[in-house]
Amino acid sequence: ADPIRPLIAGNWKMHGTGADLPELKRIANGVDGTKSDSPYDAVICTPATLIDRAVRTVVGSPLAIGGQDCHHAEKGAHTGDVSPAMLVEAGASYVIVGHSERRADHGESDADVLGKANGAHAAGMTAIVCVGETREEREAGRAEDVVDGQLAWSVPEDARPDDTVIAYEPVWAIGTGLTPSMHDIETMHDHMRMQLKQRFGSSGARFRLLYGGSVKPANAADIFAISSVDGALIGGASLKSDDFLAICAAM
Ligand code: G3P
Repeated sequence: ADPIRPLIAGNWKMHGTGADLPELKRIANGVDGTKSDSPYDAVICTPATLIDRAVRTVVGSPLAIGGQDCHHAEKGAHTGDVSPAMLVEAGASYVIVGHSERRADHGESDADVLGKANGAHAAGMTAIVCVGETREEREAGRAEDVVDGQLAWSVPEDARPDDTVIAYEPVWAIGTGLTPSMHDIETMHDHMRMQLKQRFGSSGARFRLLYGGSVKPANAADIFAISSVDGALIGGASLKSDDFLAICAAM
């Protein structure tokens, strides 16, 4: 089988206004190659308010633009929410769903995340479904169980490797400068791969599995050297073009 094409994804979280578009442009200019010959795919997930301008800023480059969340429905009485179709109209081709900050800050359940992923698929976007255990869960030896449950209940039954990406983000590694050991990342990714193969058969071998949580230029090469890691979901280090491009160069 062909090797899995890696994905390097940035999550700008609640950062990013018009003033950041020049930085986004530097990222777009520095991402390797053209869409057809670059060795990896790259996307920056901006705040919804910036997507339209971000898409216009990166036009002609291999960098894609994504959203960070969406409602499951196409439209309706949901004040403040953004539908998948709205993200697509703005130019997003990816959307993050089930980030631990959404699960914690907004009480999103696996069922909610599943609905969002389905909504993203119906609108034609690739869903980046986030999973990951808390510090307490890891210390209690429950990390794999927690991730198994999130995978089972937030990844749609008809998910395909070309419309669904899984991001493993241990909650305690996000924004903390802490990462699991390379061995622990490998163990979890191998475990997720096994679960996906059990559920999806041969296509389970083709889903991209990203690692996220304090990925920096200094640790990216070690993380990418793990064979079951197919890219990264990057928070803080995606805000600076130098850092994001250094991580891309480590791929
Ligand atoms: O979604 C990416 C994120 O949660 C990781 O954030 O700042 O630790 O790279 P950071």
